[in-house]
Amino acid sequence: MERIRIIDSKDHVGEVVQIGGWVANKRSSGKIAFLQLRDGSAYFQGVVVKNEVPEEVFELAKSLTQETSLVVTGEIREDTRSQFGYEIGIQNIEVIGESHDYPITPKEHGTDFLMDHRHLWLRSRKQHAIMQVRNELIRATYAFFNDHGFIKIDPPILTSSAPEGTTELFHTDYFGQEAYLSQTGQLYLEAAAMAFGKVFSFGPTFRAEKSKTRRHLTEFWMMEPEMAFVHQDESLEIQEQYVAFMVQSVLDNCDYALDVLERDKEVLKTYTQLPYPRISYDDAVTLLQENGFEDIKWGDDFGSPHETFIANHYSKPVFILNYPKSMSPFYMKPHPDRDDVVIRADLIAPEGYGEIIGGSERAVDYDYILEELHKDNLKEEDYAWYLDLQKYGSVPHSGFGLGLERTVTWICGIEHVREAAPFPRLLHRIYP
Ligand code: 4AD
Ligand code: MG
Repeated sequence: MERIRIIDSKDHVGEVVQIGGWVANKRSSGKIAFLQLRDGSAYFQGVVVKNEVPEEVFELAKSLTQETSLVVTGEIREDTRSQFGYEIGIQNIEVIGESHDYPITPKEHGTDFLMDHRHLWLRSRKQHAIMQVRNELIRATYAFFNDHGFIKIDPPILTSSAPEGTTELFHTDYFGQEAYLSQTGQLYLEAAAMAFGKVFSFGPTFRAEKSKTRRHLTEFWMMEPEMAFVHQDESLEIQEQYVAFMVQSVLDNCDYALDVLERDKEVLKTYTQLPYPRISYDDAVTLLQENGFEDIKWGDDFGSPHETFIANHYSKPVFILNYPKSMSPFYMKPHPDRDDVVIRADLIAPEGYGEIIGGSERAVDYDYILEELHKDNLKEEDYAWYLDLQKYGSVPHSGFGLGLERTVTWICGIEHVREAAPFPRLLHRIYP
């Protein structure tokens, strides 16, 4: 007899098959038992009818507890009443592993409780849907960059440099030398872009941020492309194409997950329409000031209410261009006509999800970079290799970084970035 996965039920209607899975939930009356089954691929219903199975099978079905693992044998049928569309008419049940007093019951639980039980919470339908979307974004990312001629280069995670500022570093001892967990692979990717032209990385990134917001993780995954002979305008086009491609991929391949998450697909479709609006930092400040944000002044960083207002103003992802130099890292290219701004753009997601991309054209002038390093109190000898790039055939180049979990959170339409990582690392959480 064939062992199938729930997700493939549609190809087995009318066949008797076996499925290995778990009991997510159960309902039974005197004559019939409904088992909510899950096998990792999907969730569907198993039906056990008293008159159609041996007495002991029906008794066993009635006694099953939540999260018992089992192998069921039965016939796949269409089930037009359910969202999934199929069910299994169970003929036999073999219990594989018992489960008693499963802590996460169908009733409501508090977030702390659920986070403490993240290893089990992942089994629930909503978390399952979120991880499907996350996986689709990862798949789409590789597809997009491979199709556009990029090569994946993996920067190191243990580093001696701190390009995004020294306050947010996880320190570690590297055989007596101070080292950090990588807060961006960018500088290494710039070196790689000079070797391979178009490169990208996709890996874990660490920020010892003492931020307790719904957007901050201390460990997250960042997607970072870097492109030689590319100016900022072209980089922005690639960024919007990439984001639209991800949204379209989720629409195409995660229909069921979006239903589980009750995400409005019509709204998501509007995010596939290009181009995304662009507004300068200067104009964004004016827009805010004219709309009741009297506290904000030129040179300030935008907080989340500011970003939310700007994004809602356009109801699409929006690029904010040319930020003040005073609040930007050393490696960004200064504006050719103004010395107070740099060629940087952040992409702000709609619906209050905030910044999902940070990117810039890179500075290429040796003396300028050296001066900026000194201003940031970064040691010249730590960056000697980076300065070499400007000595040996430097070219214009641009790149950006997209945070995976923030993008998952936005596309899923969920509350908090902690649900976008399988085992999130937060300010006060490193368990489980
Ligand atoms: O804006 P950031 O700090 O940019 C960089 O690190 C650049 N070096 C990237 C580059 O140009 N290659 O971070 C990029 C993105 C943010 O827009 C956000 O999506 C995500 O990384 N991010 C975080 N996500 C979750 N938790 C945090 N603490 C994050 N910090 C940044
Ligand atoms: Mg940023």
